Amino acid sequence: MKPKVYVTRGIPESGISMLCEHCDVTVNPYEEPVQRDELVRLVSDKDGIICLPGDKIDKALIEMAHHLKAISTFSVGFEHIDVKEATKRGIYVGYTPGILTDATADMAFTLLLSMARKIPQSDQFVRAGGWKVAGSPRHLFGTSVWGTMIGIIGLGRIGKAMAERAHGFNMKVLYADSVRLDTDEEKDLGVNYRSFDDLLRESDFVSVHTPLTPETRHLINAEKLKLMKPSAIIINTARGSVIDEEALIVALKENWIAGAGLDVYEKEPLDPKNPLLALDNVVIIPHMGSATTQTRSAMSELAARNLLAVLRGTPPPSWLNPEVEKIRPLSEVKMLF
Ligand code: 8YV
Repeated sequence: MKPKVYVTRGIPESGISMLCEHCDVTVNPYEEPVQRDELVRLVSDKDGIICLPGDKIDKALIEMAHHLKAISTFSVGFEHIDVKEATKRGIYVGYTPGILTDATADMAFTLLLSMARKIPQSDQFVRAGGWKVAGSPRHLFGTSVWGTMIGIIGLGRIGKAMAERAHGFNMKVLYADSVRLDTDEEKDLGVNYRSFDDLLRESDFVSVHTPLTPETRHLINAEKLKLMKPSAIIINTARGSVIDEEALIVALKENWIAGAGLDVYEKEPLDPKNPLLALDNVVIIPHMGSATTQTRSAMSELAARNLLAVLRGTPPPSWLNPEVEKIRPLSEVKMLF
């Protein structure tokens, strides 16, 4: 009998066809995620699932999924999965680090440039018929990027990739992280360590690249936003809840800071009534940091490879819980020969 796999959303075809060669695959045919009860029901007889950050793979769901051997997420972020519970129950958890680093850093830098140079506002201005005088010397002033100071919060893979892009714009790069690199590594990467508060005080642009954990939830709150320069711009392509969104809205309304470039929000999709939508000092895009054809296909294939590896009884290429092997060895989850 073929292993049964559920894919919670229509991820790119390349990964789905890899799965279909060996497994009995059900893919959610809708654009929207299925309701929670339906997800629990669908997963109850499956050997593996491919999920996304919007799917809550918590203790209750894991407890009901008696056949589950592998959870493979189509993402590098994994705050939506109770990895501890999965491990306890001998379930292997895969994710997709590395392959989306450049696409996400490209998007963070795009948001930075768009905010600094008022790209969406300028586009709107022209489309709305506002461009009435050729070469007007005064409208749509942005702020310079070249040679300014950027503060990177979280110098992991994507934070480092952001630093590389910033160097191309002759920016001085500060970083804050829970662990400081050694001096040689800092030199190699061209980055300067600062305490979190000093980074916020000194930077012209602040870019958030830390994962969401209980420690980083609302890391940037009202008190921290008040430390930033009134001319500073904040960029978030990590997770919405790293910033206290209510505090950010006040900061943007009252001009504690100059603007924000946002890809992620506390609640996604963004509520049409969210006050952010009424502000003109924000660029808002719909969680699309990794959204290039090449990157999303590579993510789909890696998610499939992670799942198939477990079902073949071999270590997945990218997994979060190697310690699970002690609870349930790979030989016991093997279904494909
Ligand atoms: C999403 C992401 O997976 O990798 C992550 O952690 O947030 C994204 O790449 C993607 O947007 C699909 O929801």
